[in-house]
Amino acid sequence: MALTPGQARRFYDRFGRAQDLQAFYEDRAIGELLAHASFPAARSVFELGCGTGRLAATLLARELPADARYLGADISGTMTCLSRARLHGFGRRAQVIRADGTMRFPVADGGWDRFLAVYVFDLLSAQDARAAVAAALESFAAAAGEIPDRQWPAGPAAPLAVPPARTNR
Ligand SMILES: C[S@@+](CC[C@H](N)C(=O)[O-])C[C@H]1O[C@@H](n2cnc3c(N)ncnc32)[C@H](O)[C@@H]1O
Repeated sequence: MALTPGQARRFYDRFGRAQDLQAFYEDRAIGELLAHASFPAARSVFELGCGTGRLAATLLARELPADARYLGADISGTMTCLSRARLHGFGRRAQVIRADGTMRFPVADGGWDRFLAVYVFDLLSAQDARAAVAAALESFAAAAGEIPDRQWPAGPAAPLAVPPARTNR
C-alpha cells in the first residue's frame, strides 16, 4: 500500500527496530540479491529506505570491497538513527542521510553502481517509484561514464540532476 512520505515517516518512526523482525520473510529474497548483484565488484552503493541498516551491515562486513562506499537514505528519523548507530563501526565507508520525500539524492563522484530499495517500492506512489528509478538510471549512467538520455522517462518523474544540498543531513 502506497504511503505519503509523511505517513511513512510517522509509521516507521514508531515501528523502529521491529523492522528487523521481518527478517523471517525478507532474508530469502535478500539472499538472492546477495547472490546475483556482484557486490564484490561494486564501488559505490546507494540504498533507498535503508531501515535499521541491517542489509548495509551485511554488505559492508562481508560483500563489498574495503574501499567501496555506502550511502543509505531513509524518510524516518528513527530509522536514520538506528542505521547510523549500526554502521558507526564502518567509519567513513558508510553514511546515512535523512530523505526528504523528493526522491532527489546525492550522487557520488562517479555515480552509484548499485542502487538498492528493499521492500520499499510497494510503499511509494507510482510517481515516486518512477522518480526513484529515474534517479537510479541517472546514477548508473554516471558510473558507466555515459551521458543519460534525458528524454526518459517523460513526464513529472524526471528529477535527474541531484545537487547534494537538496538533502537533509
Ligand atoms: C519495509 S521497510 C524496509 C526497510 C529495509 N529496507 C529492510 O528491508 O529492512 C521500508 C523503509 O522505507 C522507508 N521509506 C518509506 N518511504 C520512504 C521514502 N519516500 N523515502 C525514503 N525512505 C522511505 C521507511 O522509513 C522504512 O525504513
